[in-house]
Amino acid sequence: MFGFVKCCSSYRLAFFLIIIAVLGKVYQNDIVQLLQIGAARYLNRAANERAESVPVKFTETRDSIFTAEQLSTYNGENGAPIYLALLGAVFDVSRGIKHYGPGCSYNFFVGRDASVSFVSGEFEHYDPTTADDVLSLKGNDLIELAKWQQFYEKEYTYKGKLIGRFYDEAGQPTVYHKKFLVLLDEAKIAKAQVDELRNRYPGCNIEWSEAKGTRVWCTTTSGDGKEREWSGYPRKLYNRDNKNFHCACVPEAELNDPMFKPYDNCADRATECFYRV
Ligand code: HEM
Repeated sequence: MFGFVKCCSSYRLAFFLIIIAVLGKVYQNDIVQLLQIGAARYLNRAANERAESVPVKFTETRDSIFTAEQLSTYNGENGAPIYLALLGAVFDVSRGIKHYGPGCSYNFFVGRDASVSFVSGEFEHYDPTTADDVLSLKGNDLIELAKWQQFYEKEYTYKGKLIGRFYDEAGQPTVYHKKFLVLLDEAKIAKAQVDELRNRYPGCNIEWSEAKGTRVWCTTTSGDGKEREWSGYPRKLYNRDNKNFHCACVPEAELNDPMFKPYDNCADRATECFYRV
């Protein structure tokens, strides 16, 4: 029974193939035309879809000048490259897509200059009027920003300049930019002085207990952990703002320098002092 069905199916198949061959020959031209129309429609649709996914023609010159609007299109969406600006310098960070891609931790920085957030850590709210306004930041923050810029220069590709606070339409540094550079230099000098002081007068050991408050004391390794020949005496060393101080270990020969202040209720040659804030 099953052999009969098989036999009949083979005949039916052969019959259909003959019919198709005959019709194919008769309507050959029509079939070819239909296929051509179908292919043309498919290509048109594909071309349109692609045009929608790449909204901007990206300039790939090395030192371009970008408007804020142009920069915002380099946002990693629909296959666009990923750019960010720092202190008005534009970098291609597409290579770091795991950090900067859509939905990733540092996507906030993409397509804009949000320099302030590099030191404030504020990644939630973007206000274009203040996001790159760095002049009111502290000296150490300016140094930090300059380090971030060096990082991007080293790790990613520099692309050009953003027209705005740091560069004018001709790509020239603005007055604002020059002020920034002056403040950055001052900050570096101030930091070098502080580093030098910290080197000469290492920090004290410090601990806190509820019973005794803050205890400060000097040893031959206090401060940077490196062994030295002297341990010194704890003294208050005030910052440039004259409001905050830290504890410095001062060698005996320099104890009379007026920049050092003794701790209240602590003997002149005491090796440890206690205080409460
Ligand atoms: C002011 C605050 C912060 C800023 C501006 C910042 C910025 C960044 C940026 C831009 C990157 C990507 C660097 C690249 O392109 O390779 C990065 C990477 C990273 N950040 Fe932050 N970050 C901040 C705070 C933090 C904190 C608090 C943590 C830890 C809890 C952290 C952990 C990391 C880690 C682990 C990576 C590297 C991830 C990897 O290489 O896979 N960051 N950060």
